[in-house]
Formats: sequence, C-alpha cells, structure tokens
Amino acid sequence: MGFAEVVGWGRYLPPLIVSNDDLSEFVDTSDEWIFSRTGIRQRHYSHVSTGKMAWLAGERALAAAGRTAQDLDLVLLGTTTSEDLCPSTASYIKNELGADHAAAFDLNAACTSWFYGLTIATDMIRAGTIERALVMGAERLSLAMDWNKRESCCLFGDGAGAVVLERSDQESGLMAAQMGCIPNTREALKIPRWGIQPQLHRNELYLSLDFDGSTIFKRAVTAMAMDCDKALANAGLTIEDIDLFVPHQANIRIIEAMSRKLHFPMEKVVVCVDQYANTSAASIPIALCEALESGRVKAGMRILVATFGAGLSHGAGVIHWGSKITVTKRSDALIPEYQGDLRTLMADSFAYHGILIKDKIR
Ligand code: UT7
Repeated sequence: MGFAEVVGWGRYLPPLIVSNDDLSEFVDTSDEWIFSRTGIRQRHYSHVSTGKMAWLAGERALAAAGRTAQDLDLVLLGTTTSEDLCPSTASYIKNELGADHAAAFDLNAACTSWFYGLTIATDMIRAGTIERALVMGAERLSLAMDWNKRESCCLFGDGAGAVVLERSDQESGLMAAQMGCIPNTREALKIPRWGIQPQLHRNELYLSLDFDGSTIFKRAVTAMAMDCDKALANAGLTIEDIDLFVPHQANIRIIEAMSRKLHFPMEKVVVCVDQYANTSAASIPIALCEALESGRVKAGMRILVATFGAGLSHGAGVIHWGSKITVTKRSDALIPEYQGDLRTLMADSFAYHGILIKDKIR
C-alpha cells in the first residue's frame, strides 16, 4: 500500500476586499466588535461562481505540481455553495480543466467538506483505486448572508483552495484522520431553503444563513480537540511531534482555545482569519497555501489540521509533508478583475434583505 503525497497547491481569493468598516456602513456593527470577538479584519467577496474560483485554484495547484489535467483520475470539490446541485460543480471544473479521464463529484459537509474530501481521496489512492486527485474547497457564502443578522453576516468570506494528491512510495500525505458529526446539532447552523424543497416551487427563494454561534463555538472546540487527540494516537504521535497546526479559520478565539487545549504554541499555528474571514470549505487549503507561500512549511514536517462546520461535522488529521515545498510552475490562467464595487456586486442580495444602499458604501 502506497501513500498519497501532497505535490501541488493553489488558491484564489476574489479581488473585492470588504473591510469591517465597509460592513459597518450597512450592518449594525463595528470594526472594534468584529475584530475583538473574531480576529477578522476583512473578507473577500466574489464576482464569479464557486466553480470558477475552484477551477482557478485547481489550475494553480496542477501547475505547482508540474502535472496536467490529463493526469487526474479524480476531481473532488468540497463545497456548500455549488451553483447547481445537478450536475455537480466538480463536473464543470473537470471540463474547464480538461481532465478528460477523471471522475468528478461534489462533497457537502459544510466547512468540513475539504477535509472529508482529503480523507476520501487519500484512501482511494492508498487502496490503489486511483493514482492522482485534485481536492478543492471553494465557497461563495457572501450570497447566503442575511445582512440583518449581524451575529453571522460579518463572519464569512469567499475563496477557493486546492491540493493535488499523488500516489507515492515515500511515507507522506494524510497519515491518520478522525472524522465525526455531532448528534442532534443540525439546527445550530443552517441555510434554510437551499435545495429541493416545496418552497422553491412557490418562488420563495430567500437565502439566509441561521446559526447559534455560542453552541457551535463550544461544541467545535471540544470536538476538534478530541479529534486531534485521536488522530495523533492513530498516527502513533503526540502533540510534541507536530511542527505546524493549520486549523479551520472561523474565529481567532476558537483557534486560541484549541492551542490552549492541545498545549500547542500559537507561534506554530497558521492564522489568516484576519484577512479572509471564514471561507468554510476553502479555509484550510487557503491557510495551507499561505503557509507554503510564506516558507513556513518544510520538507518532512508533520502538520496537524482540524475543522468543524454545519452538521455539526468535524474532523482532524496529521499530514506528513513530503519533499515538495516549491512550485514547479505558475499557472497563467486568469479570472478577469471585477470592475464594479460592493454596491453593484451585492445589489440583489441587499435588495432581498431590505438593505438601504447608502452613498457611502463603495
Ligand atoms: O465555521 C462554522 C461557522 N462558524 C461559527 O459558527 C463561529 C462560531 N461562533 C463564534 O465565532 C462566536 O460565537 C460569534 C463570533 C458568532 C459570537 O461571539 P460571542 O462572543 O459568542 O458573542 P455573543 O453571541 O454572545 O454576542 C455578544 C453580544 C450580543 O449582544 P448582547 O445580547 O450582549 O447585548 C450580540 O447581540 O454581541 C452582539 N453582537 C454584535 N455586536 C456588534 C453579535 N454580533 C455582533 C456584531 N456587531 N456583528
């Protein structure tokens, strides 16, 4: 049985940056509240679909790996914000990439989607079913925000991240994983009417993310800490063996609570929630790219990842980084820059939620 080494990585953050001050123009909030309670300073909102963002992250990951789309056996997209439920967004990405020989599917476990996908693709490679996979996480949650719910609308951002996994004989890749889903907590985080429900046939399509932040906060920390302990035990390691921790980026206070619970120093934790907010399924691959681009990932490192999301789904794993820490090539694929501003981008969503558009909003 071989291993599933991470040999390529890429991400895409849409160009429109929305600061806490920008949000304060039409949400009853402030930079002081958002930053002190969450660590978030800004987020990116997308002018293109989830699939388009994931496609570009995928192109970049393939170039970094020095592979072409023809080399792929699997295109797996973790997301909750597919533009269509049928056909899958992964099949759109497969076609855009030209991954002629690849199977393609979407996986929805909310923020945990990419990690679940990483686990599945790794197991498929290690079982010998496939040789190479592109595993992406991408979200366009900006379109699901209810701008009247200040407790949630400032927390999320859009973006995409991707990795290429490849069969290897060297001990590398995801070495151990723990996955779970807490019973009877489905109501804690939901986007009602997103899927096939009778309301859709009555033209009552109105997306509005609902959640109970403090329940999720407490449950998330407990579940992730248990997952980390189990994943470490499964890998035959202790926390002292870990070189870098890449947690889901939802709230700096959750990340700090994890660091305390695991007795793991914050200096070795990757934090980018300040720049991108919570990008859900994209959050860990984006943070991983950030760590690679800034030279924090070294060959042979042991990296702990942990995540949670709606469901409430959760998981953690230990990635043994292989030898690849620099990109082979840079992709020249592009998404055109957005020419408008926040007002034009979110005009329909603001109208849905009865937000009066002030002149001050960019
Ligand atoms: O990845 C999965 C999804 N992520 C999450 O679910 C995140 C998990 N939860 C959290 O990050 C935190 O629970 C929040 C950031 C959502 C909330 O932080 P908190 O410290 O638990 O605040 P709280 O909900 O207890 O609210 C404290 C106060 C309330 O006012 P009162 O009742 O004390 O007068 C809220 O109304 O803060 C108020 N508040 C705000 N004030 C200004 C809530 N949101 C805002 C806001 N601006 N954006």
